[in-house]
Amino acid sequence: MVTLRVYRFDPDSGEEGHFDTYDVPYEEGMRVLDGLHYIHDHLDGTLAFRWVCRAGQCGSCGIRINGKAGLACQEPLQGETTLEPLMLFPVVKDLVVDFGEGYRRLYESEPYLSREEPMADPPALLPGDVAPLKDFRSCIECWCCVSACPVANRVWDDYYGPIVMRKLCELDIDSRDLAERVKIALNEGLYHCTTCRNCWAVCPEHIEIPEKAVEKLRAHAVRDGLGPLPGHNTLVQSIKNYRNPWVMPRQRRARWAKGLELSDRGAFMFFAGCSPSLLLGDRLPANVVRVLDRLGMRPAYLGKEELCCGSPLLKVGDEVAYRELAGENIALMKERGVKTLVTTCAGCHKSWATDYRAFFGDFGIEVKHVSEVLWDAFQSGAFTLRDLPENHVTVTYHDPCHLGRGTGVYDAPRNLIRAVPGMRLVEPERIRENSHCCGSGGGVKTAKPEVALEVGKERIRQFEELEPAYIISCCPWCEQHLDDSIAYARASLGATRDLIEIIERTMEVASHERGNC
Ligand code: FES
Repeated sequence: MVTLRVYRFDPDSGEEGHFDTYDVPYEEGMRVLDGLHYIHDHLDGTLAFRWVCRAGQCGSCGIRINGKAGLACQEPLQGETTLEPLMLFPVVKDLVVDFGEGYRRLYESEPYLSREEPMADPPALLPGDVAPLKDFRSCIECWCCVSACPVANRVWDDYYGPIVMRKLCELDIDSRDLAERVKIALNEGLYHCTTCRNCWAVCPEHIEIPEKAVEKLRAHAVRDGLGPLPGHNTLVQSIKNYRNPWVMPRQRRARWAKGLELSDRGAFMFFAGCSPSLLLGDRLPANVVRVLDRLGMRPAYLGKEELCCGSPLLKVGDEVAYRELAGENIALMKERGVKTLVTTCAGCHKSWATDYRAFFGDFGIEVKHVSEVLWDAFQSGAFTLRDLPENHVTVTYHDPCHLGRGTGVYDAPRNLIRAVPGMRLVEPERIRENSHCCGSGGGVKTAKPEVALEVGKERIRQFEELEPAYIISCCPWCEQHLDDSIAYARASLGATRDLIEIIERTMEVASHERGNC
């Protein structure tokens, strides 16, 4: 038997929504929708849910399955499962929601080929437009992406959501369409997207809306002089002038490394990144070097020659400047003989690990987040973690979107936290691939701080109900915003900690096992 906890709500009863529990006999290969049919046919014929094709084609059976939006006809039924209606949309009954407002917004974006006059002989799609449109065309309008979007869930009036951005980009690419799609997208919240990729994670077709639609529409906006937003201008100019987004002289970025005597060339290079080096004090990059050094993996570091990874340029749409900077970065690392690059900031990590490859293909440098390097070393017995009284606490972990959904690093940070003696890890419902964004990415914190804080407040609410002492994360940018959101939400959580800080204070290295990298 499997137990299904199913959300029940009948608007005619006058009662609040609640959960009912049903035991369903399990058969191999069962899908969630099979379980719902069993309940309806054998246990409770009043249960309302939607389905048509049962083949992942019509998009009608979208619900939340253990907190993650997905298709009931495709998701395997396994173990105790909680089923709820999609978020954001009003519930009609039980698991059925009303998509009316969503469709109204989609129609407002004129989701059809727009021409000035009727076509007597309609032209075919140009062959060159077919390939980039293929991904977008696979959308089955299940609305899972909009339901999972952390921004649409907070400010839907301002951001129409990923499905609309996907449609607008599809029409923007289609050279037969004459409407000004970028202007429509700007009106419908193009710069509200944090590029967190939750829409991709729940999409049955895995359409990469942030990279393939949002960033491309933003690039088009910049080409037309319509973007980025005024709030982004200082950041963009600073990257172009100073090679960092924070209007700081280039020499400043290496201040944290003073006295460490790191070589500026070598096969094993540390990419410290702009925010850890310039904005957030100097503890994090110095801790990374200290920890690696103690393991006999002393990294090289470019010092003041290190460049911004360019991620902010890509996110706000300055694709030309991004390409140039990314190309310079790769050439510089190759010239210095780098074979493995270690990062600590999630944004830098996604840039190097996936975004650069999307633009330049494989460039011959392995990219690892410091948490991966440390977990590998821990597993090989290179160090142990000390039992310190102050580490006997209940903590939680926030998946940075660019590290988790961006590059697939979910386990290493969690494994290291669990390996700290006395530390107890508790987690909210939305973690790993379905983790809720902190709200700060995609240029949103820079140009729309109030939106970033609204999204962050919801993430803090999810953590606060677990009553941890503090949040641990692996991205200084997320950590700073989580702290801002804790203050905004007036939450009773301690200051967010970076995982490396905890490892640095707790690690014990067996000196005879130290080697050279
Ligand atoms: Fe059609 Fe699930 S019933 S997609």
